[in-house]
Amino acid sequence: MSDVMIEARSLKKNYGLVQALKGVSFEVRKGQIVGLLGPNGAGKTTAMKILTCFIAPTDGTASVNGCDVFADPMGVRKAIGYLPESTPLYTEMLVLEYLDWIAQMRNISKPRERIKKVVEQTGLTEEIGKPIRALSKGLRQRVGLAQALVHEPPILILDEPMSGLDPNQASEIRDLIREIGKERTVILSTHNLAEVQVTCDRVLIIAKGTIVADDTAAALKARGGKARFYATVPRALADNRAMNALEAIVGVERVQQGTANDGDVEFEIVPTGTNDLRQDIFNAAVKGNFPLIGLRREGANLENVFRDLTIGNTGPAETPRGRANGGAPKSGDSSNETKPAAEDGAVQKENP
Ligand SMILES: Nc1ncnc2c1ncn2[C@@H]1O[C@H](COP(=O)(O)OP(=O)(O)OP(=O)(O)O)[C@@H](O)[C@H]1O
Ligand SMILES: [Mg+2]
Repeated sequence: MSDVMIEARSLKKNYGLVQALKGVSFEVRKGQIVGLLGPNGAGKTTAMKILTCFIAPTDGTASVNGCDVFADPMGVRKAIGYLPESTPLYTEMLVLEYLDWIAQMRNISKPRERIKKVVEQTGLTEEIGKPIRALSKGLRQRVGLAQALVHEPPILILDEPMSGLDPNQASEIRDLIREIGKERTVILSTHNLAEVQVTCDRVLIIAKGTIVADDTAAALKARGGKARFYATVPRALADNRAMNALEAIVGVERVQQGTANDGDVEFEIVPTGTNDLRQDIFNAAVKGNFPLIGLRREGANLENVFRDLTIGNTGPAETPRGRANGGAPKSGDSSNETKPAAEDGAVQKENP
């Protein structure tokens, strides 16, 4: 039997005029932990909702554990544990009540035994008698992982599992995911590059509904991306002159204005090639008569690779007839969402 656990084939998804996915194909093999990385609005959640049979693709198809999302959505749902972007936790319920209820929905044969195991695995033993609302965000995320694990699925689909957590809680959840990922196939979405480097075997970078890279984090990093230069100018003196002078330097691709820690203005200068532009930047400041109070070069790193691959791709998705203005609302759209009705629908319901 093939060890392909997830296969997406030319997935397209339109929300009205917004093309959220424009033909996405990828495979995930057994035992891999794959990071789906992309800027806001790239289509990560949309792809995950298709893989979990929450919504149907406009075109293309996908299979999970050998089950097609159209032909066998129940098979798909049995094979996956899903942690949605905003965890649908019933905050008044006790942790144990909630997991009991999930186990019931999932038709688990020996629910108490299974829940005990999952609670141990996710480090929730001391919390089971507490109402969910009393838990920290990190602990709630553990409850979310526990509900995803109750039916012992071979595949986990985790939508931004570490987002909104403080660094300590994030690193605990990361360790937990690595632990539970040892015997499972995992897709997780994130914006966090550091996280991807430590957690994932492979990275899929998605931008504006298209996969722009599919590789290991190490290989992506080795692509280098471009070095960046950072020039700091006192806030009071940073006017268009500085921007224009920097943009006029030969070998500069683009300049972006940002804020330095102390409120001064920091220009990020992206070169067209690999030349060291520091002297040119200094000369431009002298010639343009603006003071340079900081100048540094930052070598290539994964963040730069990511930005080079996704730059200009952070706005709203394009519409079939041009560009959407302002992006479409995320909820309340019922235009072409088909929520497959299912016996265990309540488990997957997003906003109970
Ligand atoms: N229900 C919906 N109705 C209309 N447009 C939607 C809907 N859901 C998503 N979109 C649009 O589809 C595109 C992709 O959204 P998606 O939520 O998949 O992105 P994402 O990569 O998960 O972003 P984020 O990092 O912000 O979670 C965006 O332009 C978004 O506004
Ligand atoms: Mg999302």
